[in-house]
Amino acid sequence: MRIKDFKLEEYFAKHEFNVEYSLCSSDCESFNVNELLTLEKDSLENLKKVWLGYTESLGNPILRKEISKLYSDINPKEVIVFSGAEEAIFICMNVLLKKDDHIIVQYPAYQSLYEIANAIGCKVTKWVMEDENHWELDLQFLETNITQTTKCIVVNFPHNPTGYLPEKEIYEKIINLAKRNNIYLLSDEVYKFLEYNEANRLPSACDLYDRGISIGVMSKSFGLAGLRIGWIATKNKALFEKISSFKNYTTICNSALSEFFAILALRNRSKILNRNLEIINNNLNLLDEFFNKYSNFFKWIKPKAGSIAFPRLLVNESAEVFCLNLLKKKSVLLMPSTNYDYGDRHFRIGFGRKNMPEALQKLEDFLKEL
Ligand SMILES: Cc1ncc(COP(=O)(O)O)c(C=O)c1O
Repeated sequence: MRIKDFKLEEYFAKHEFNVEYSLCSSDCESFNVNELLTLEKDSLENLKKVWLGYTESLGNPILRKEISKLYSDINPKEVIVFSGAEEAIFICMNVLLKKDDHIIVQYPAYQSLYEIANAIGCKVTKWVMEDENHWELDLQFLETNITQTTKCIVVNFPHNPTGYLPEKEIYEKIINLAKRNNIYLLSDEVYKFLEYNEANRLPSACDLYDRGISIGVMSKSFGLAGLRIGWIATKNKALFEKISSFKNYTTICNSALSEFFAILALRNRSKILNRNLEIINNNLNLLDEFFNKYSNFFKWIKPKAGSIAFPRLLVNESAEVFCLNLLKKKSVLLMPSTNYDYGDRHFRIGFGRKNMPEALQKLEDFLKEL
């Protein structure tokens, strides 16, 4: 398989660990090992007993059970654990799609959600969102672009990079369109549980549709990216079998230590999620003030969920140049929209980290010096 460079990940690889502030990370503030261990008594003793042989390929049964509790009607046997959401997406697309299949992908998007399909030789239709429409999805577009060869619709709610979360009625219409046309719905739900108002949380695709495939991960809402634990939940047995068989060619099984910590974190998930949502809420208040103050400079659409947003530069400058200058002068990293192949006017800003207020202050200092 020949696949294009992953622009966003290459940009992170180049800069993330050399800057003072990452102001575009999508994962929430992480934890150290000790913080996780203090979530439960006896956890250090239990950690010492973790066996470091190969683990069960589908995932530790206790972990699969904890993951299944995140859904309303998913059995642990309908969950398979991977090394991050990235492996889940890679395998799912490879199993589901073949050359000349057609897929429709919500866009802009995390690159693997369409690039793997491109590399397989699929025809990819981008279902483009625009800030002029408040990032709202055009259902008419979806309906008119479904053809005989459409195999899959790919969505990502809450959305990377805009923070868009559809109203429940819109989501239901997407599911119904997929159902009516027998199309798979690949639903990247890695920012689920970061809805600012819990009432807006969407049901998972795997709970609603037998061709619904829900992808989740410990990295984003739970802030545990270093565990590299992600998963797929689906009721589709045939697909599940193919996915599990493909895994023998990628990672075979998961890290025993990561599975241990993922179980611990999921058993204590409300503490972790509440802490992360508190950080996000505080940061969002600051961002609201900031973008209000600089409304001549930026267009700000406040998200409804997640830890990232995608403001537009209103001044006549390339987002890439703007971000590079900020990086050079203040050692603050923003993500220009060129890394999403989405023009050169937007940038991704992240607000799941505790040090966001300091990074924002640096951005303001930079603006004052322009
Ligand atoms: C929408 C989306 N899906 C999948 C991933 C991959 O997640 P992970 O790095 O945890 O595998 C990301 C990471 O940024 C993402 O934003």
